[in-house]
Amino acid sequence: MNVEFYGHVRQYQNVETEIDANLREVLLSGQYVMGPMLKRFEAELAAYHGTKYAVGVGNGTDAIWLALMALGIGPGDEVITHPNTFFATAEAIWIAGATAVFVDCCPQTKCICPEKIEAALTPKTKAIVPVHLYGQCADMIALRKIADRHGLKLIEDNAQAIGACGKGFKVAELGDVATTSFIIQKNLGTFGDSGALVTNNPDMDARVRQLRNHGSNQRNVHSYGFNSRLDDLHAGILSAKLKHLEAWNDQRRQWAARYAAGLKDCRTIDLPVALPGYRHVYHLYVIETKKPEWRGRLLDHLVKSGVDAKTHYSIAIHQQAGYPWGKGARIAGDLTNAEANAACCISLPMFPELRADEVDHVIAKVKEWDARFTFQAPAGKGPAQSGKTCACCS
Ligand SMILES: Cc1ncc(COP(=O)(O)O)c(C=O)c1O
Repeated sequence: MNVEFYGHVRQYQNVETEIDANLREVLLSGQYVMGPMLKRFEAELAAYHGTKYAVGVGNGTDAIWLALMALGIGPGDEVITHPNTFFATAEAIWIAGATAVFVDCCPQTKCICPEKIEAALTPKTKAIVPVHLYGQCADMIALRKIADRHGLKLIEDNAQAIGACGKGFKVAELGDVATTSFIIQKNLGTFGDSGALVTNNPDMDARVRQLRNHGSNQRNVHSYGFNSRLDDLHAGILSAKLKHLEAWNDQRRQWAARYAAGLKDCRTIDLPVALPGYRHVYHLYVIETKKPEWRGRLLDHLVKSGVDAKTHYSIAIHQQAGYPWGKGARIAGDLTNAEANAACCISLPMFPELRADEVDHVIAKVKEWDARFTFQAPAGKGPAQSGKTCACCS
C-alpha cells in the first residue's frame, strides 16, 4: 500500500460541485481581481475568526511582512520569533527590513517559549511573531501579557492552525493581527498561493488594503505599495472549502487520536503533545525519534514501505547554510529545544481524506521499525522533548 502525504485531489473530488460553482460564478462575473468573490470570502473569513476585518493577500509570507510594515516596523527594529518554523516566518521579518531575534521553543509544544522572551528584549524590540506550529496555538495569554508589559505588537503567524483554540482563547483573538497562508497543503488551502490577515484594528485593515494594491484605495491615486492580492478565483475555492473546515479539522483530530492510540507503546519515538484544553488542529502530525541518528533511518524505512513521510523542519533557520545572508539576525539564549526538534522530527501523513486502512498501515510500519530498535531505546523522553518544561507546557 502507498500512503500519500497530501490528499489534494481527494479533497477536490469531495467538494467538486461547490468549488466548480464558485469558479463558474467568478468566471461569468467578469471580475477577477478585487471583485465580489474576494469581498464575500473576506467577510466569511472575518466571521469565521470572529474578527472585524479580513484582508486577502498574495500569500502567507506577504501577510506577515505587510502586517509588520503596516505597524511601521522595519530597519532598526527587532522582532522576536523562534527558529523551528517554516523559513517564511523569518524571511518576512527580513523583507520588512527588521532584525530577526531567535529564542527557543517549548520542548512539548514546539511553539515559542514565553519564558525565553524577556531576556531577549532590547530597546529595539518592537514585536513578537509567535507561530502556532503544526496546528497547536502558542501560549497567547502569556505572550499578550509580555507584549503589554513592554509595549510590543503581537503578530500571530497562523499559517498552520486555522480553527485552533488555546485554553480560554481563539487564534486571532489576542494578537494585534493574525496572518495565514492558503497554500494548497494548509488546513484551508487553495489550488495555488494566497494568504490573508485578520484583525480587529481598523488602521491595520485600511493600511494593508492600501499596501496590497500599489498603495491605492482609489483609482489613479497612489502611495508607495505593492501588488499582493488574493484573486477572485482563489477566493471562490476558499469560500467553498471554508464551509468544510471545521469538519476537516475534526477529522484530522480523529486521525491524530488513531495515530496516538496505535503508537502509544512505541519506545523509540515521542508522540506530539496536545495540551489539555487546547484544540490542536494537526496541520502536521509530527513524531520525534528518541535518538537523532534514528530519524533518517526511520524516515527511510517509512518511505521504502510506501509511506510518504516528510520532515518539518529538519534544518532550523539559524542552522541553514549561509545564515543570515547579510540580514539582521540575533540568537538570544540557547536554542536546544529547537535544534533537537529539527534533528528528530518526522511528519506522518495527515490530511482529512486519509482512510483508516492507510492510517493503520502507517502505524504498522512505524511499529515494525520500533520493534527492531526498542531494546536500544533510552528511558524517558528523547532529546526533543526532555528539555525543561515551562509554565505553558507543563
Ligand atoms: C508557519 C508558516 N509561516 C508562513 C508560511 C508562508 O506562507 P506562504 O507559503 O503562503 O507564503 C508558511 C507556509 O507555507 C508557514 O507554514
